[in-house]
Amino acid sequence: MHGPQREEHAAAARSEKGADMKEKLLEEFRSVFGREAERVFFAPGRVNLIGEHTDYNGGHVFPCALTIGTYAAAAKNSDGTLRFYSMNFKEKGVITADIGDLKNEKEHDWANYPKGVLKIMLDAGYSIPSGMDIVYFGNIPNSSGLSSSASVEVLTGYAARELFGLAVDFVELAKLGQKAENEFIGVNCGIMDQFAIAMGKKEHAIFLDTATLSYEYAPLVLGDSKLVIACSNKKRGLGDSKYNERRSECEAALAKLQTVLDIRSLGELTEEEFEANRAVIGDEVKERRAKHAVYENQRTIRAVAALQANDIEEFGRLMIASHESLRDDYEVTGIELDTLVETALAQEGVIGSRMTGAGFGGCTVSIVRADRVDAFIRNVGEAYINRIGYGADFYVVEAGCGPYTL
Ligand code: GLA
Repeated sequence: MHGPQREEHAAAARSEKGADMKEKLLEEFRSVFGREAERVFFAPGRVNLIGEHTDYNGGHVFPCALTIGTYAAAAKNSDGTLRFYSMNFKEKGVITADIGDLKNEKEHDWANYPKGVLKIMLDAGYSIPSGMDIVYFGNIPNSSGLSSSASVEVLTGYAARELFGLAVDFVELAKLGQKAENEFIGVNCGIMDQFAIAMGKKEHAIFLDTATLSYEYAPLVLGDSKLVIACSNKKRGLGDSKYNERRSECEAALAKLQTVLDIRSLGELTEEEFEANRAVIGDEVKERRAKHAVYENQRTIRAVAALQANDIEEFGRLMIASHESLRDDYEVTGIELDTLVETALAQEGVIGSRMTGAGFGGCTVSIVRADRVDAFIRNVGEAYINRIGYGADFYVVEAGCGPYTL
């Protein structure tokens, strides 16, 4: 991590909100474990601005970390036991696991995420010589598609790094989190969420090439506009299995294309190359899935160029095209997300709007002129409840930095 970022982290930790959160977590730790925590840590959530379902297709993504996220108060203990407690799931109580015998257990529910990342770290050879007691608190809405689980994974890895003095850098923390998700949880996700969280930078989004992990920070200069997240409150349900299904559809399409093209991923193709060869896929559905992956990657590259050229209107148009492709070709939106985007686009002062994250529920992200934000939240909220029957939640967010110690 370079200098300016370290300062950002320290400033966030020193802020009034940081101090309040630290006190709140320390107090809860005392009451749950009857002793003092050693440190309090934070890792953000993330929102993806464009580049959806491209990360496991060797394409580009453009997410940013948020200033909301997950906090953890932690201390090493003198036995080999991990004790996890979440202020968000108090009813689950303290969840206990033996550090020498970590496996995914259904009844451990949310605690499988921290267990998973510690197991992957141990398997990778990092020395975690004792157990830990940890209290978590997250202010990211659960199941919102703002990556509360990746936030917990990166946070837990970061806490272990700090408490045990592990030589693990932030890109490695992201990779370990993704591996935990893939191998311990069973979701075949790409690297985007964990990378955005581990590498976040205040007021910047990250333009990441997932094929090489080379990345560039782009200032998130939105002029007189704000980023507004609308949470559909639709639970993801079968989302994880659908996610894995999309991934295998793309892999099957790629395998067909590889019979005529020398490529390693769909992200290597331009729209023209795809159009000239798509017939070889030989399956209408898989063709549309692959088309989305190829076009979305090119859109992401163009969107970042537009933002860098201060052409926010073009950025907004590309966001809208991204949503349409996710709705029609990738089929991961659904009535809730479509309603949020459609009604958003009917409002004055909206520059762009799209679903963000895996889809099948979760959130949308919109760029809205600051003086129209209140009306936006009122109108979209009303239209949503009328059509869907329950309410959406809205958050005006800012791009924040990666993990830090409070
Ligand atoms: C989820 C996954 C990411 C990415 C997005 C879709 O958030 O965790 O790796 O694939 O869906 O873009």
